[in-house]
Amino acid sequence: MSVIDLIKSRRNIKAFKPDPIDEQALMSWLEAASYAPNHRFNEPWELLRVGPETRAKLKHKSDFWGAPVVIALLSKPGATPLERDENVMAAACFAQNLMLAAHEAGVGTFWSSVGSSAQNREVLGVAEGYEVIGVFGIGYPAEIPEAKPRTPIAEKIKTLP
Ligand SMILES: Cc1cc2nc3c(=O)[nH]c(=O)nc-3n(C[C@H](O)[C@H](O)[C@H](O)COP(=O)(O)O)c2cc1C
Repeated sequence: MSVIDLIKSRRNIKAFKPDPIDEQALMSWLEAASYAPNHRFNEPWELLRVGPETRAKLKHKSDFWGAPVVIALLSKPGATPLERDENVMAAACFAQNLMLAAHEAGVGTFWSSVGSSAQNREVLGVAEGYEVIGVFGIGYPAEIPEAKPRTPIAEKIKTLP
């Protein structure tokens, strides 16, 4: 699939099959994701493999829609508010890379913001200053929703003199 087709066909998956994800494949998607742009090459992403006990404590309403793998993505603290924002931006690029790499292999991802609550930060053991970019369910999709139509991009473009 072309990059454009991959980007356009990726969906936030809300129904997974229980089939396991190959560990080497997962590592290869994470490694590919680490080629995300990042300012001053500070590689601000950190990952938590969420095991069953921790997963249950997160109390996600649908338990990540049955995804066999759950991973939390964090961004490191910054010395300034700008650096913190840039770390979040770079980690979000990591997230998109990860989702696209998995999607290319026919594996779906679900992005949840469940990790941002104070309670779940504690469950995940997130240190102060770190941001939880998302908690991702990863697995083979049981259902793929239709794409939500996007606003024509021309409406989002302002041309400056
Ligand atoms: C920062 C961020 C947080 C998100 N948190 C959630 C969430 O908590 N629950 C959820 O169902 N989807 C969440 N999503 C996924 C969006 O709902 C989803 O991407 C959007 O509906 C567009 O659908 P698509 O990704 O299939 O194109 C999140 C996406 C982003 C970028």
